[in-house]
Amino acid sequence: MTDDGLRDAARSSPPSATGSAVGPLIRPRRLRRTPGLRRLVAETTVSPGQLVLPLFVREGISEPVPVASMPGVVQHTRDTMLKAVAEAADLGLGGVMLFGIPERKDAVGSGAVDPSGILNLAINDAVGEVGDALTVMSDLCLDEFTDHGHCGLLTPDGRVDNDRTLVAYAEMAQAQADAGVDMVGPSGMMDGQVRVVRDALDANGHADVSILAYSAKYASAFFGPFREAVSSSLEGDRRTYQQDSANAVEGVREALLDVEQGADIVMVKPALGYLDVVRRVRDAVDVPVAAYNVSGEYAMVEAAAANGWIDREPAILEVLTSIRRAGADVVLTYWAVEAARLLRR
Ligand code: PBG
Repeated sequence: MTDDGLRDAARSSPPSATGSAVGPLIRPRRLRRTPGLRRLVAETTVSPGQLVLPLFVREGISEPVPVASMPGVVQHTRDTMLKAVAEAADLGLGGVMLFGIPERKDAVGSGAVDPSGILNLAINDAVGEVGDALTVMSDLCLDEFTDHGHCGLLTPDGRVDNDRTLVAYAEMAQAQADAGVDMVGPSGMMDGQVRVVRDALDANGHADVSILAYSAKYASAFFGPFREAVSSSLEGDRRTYQQDSANAVEGVREALLDVEQGADIVMVKPALGYLDVVRRVRDAVDVPVAAYNVSGEYAMVEAAAANGWIDREPAILEVLTSIRRAGADVVLTYWAVEAARLLRR
């Protein structure tokens, strides 16, 4: 047989399991043979600059308080938060996302707009520590500050009042910008929130403050450990404002609306159960897309690893790579510091 004849034979009849003189013509395994080859053809990379570390800062504590459902994660004091922020900058992370846990909560979340509220103080501290070396972001939502635990203000009959909440978000945006934040993260899923936040920033001399919009945020059981991390007082759920996990088209719609309203970055959250939404949003918008690798995703891997059921470090890198492969430009993850170290090795 001629060479061409052999090739035709190989194409039409693959070698039997017992082997054949004629092997497959196409061998994808060639590019997997060595670490060097695998590195050369890797389609997706994860680098520290794409990772954002969420940090919890709690008012009125003198030592960090561990979050039991998130081994390795703590509620920081103002001091230990600063050390974490400095470390994040040293490692070249993309940023930190700050969450505040106030000592006292009330129906309207007053602590969120108070310049000496814990989150606003923490923003000020963090920016003072790292300046422009690291992007300091803050959660813009009322749930940590309200005694009922909802992301917005309630009507007398207990429903979340969209438009009154927007007024509060505008004030909160201004307070966070006054404290020096680089980027605000409106996460309450109120209709029109990005527009209201943009207007409030622009009207008060903060046109340079950018918006990371939690655009496609789903009512998710995977936020469970976070509720412990922020000492949440929520009873019930957030299904009248966060999205239904059944809906992907609607996630794209939310992202497009946020871009129209002035979002600089749009986010999908959670990440792992919603990688299809990450991809669809990436294909639909022309701004950077972030994904939030949430508390429950972290807790699952940590719990399995603690039981010896999963190999922790490769699992962490696989999770982050998968989120990037789905199309996320930026990943919020509680593993940001550790992943940065693993990636340096
Ligand atoms: C709302 C907010 C939540 C998370 C981030 N911002 C909780 C919620 O919507 O109930 C969840 C993050 C996580 O689970 O890691 N302020």
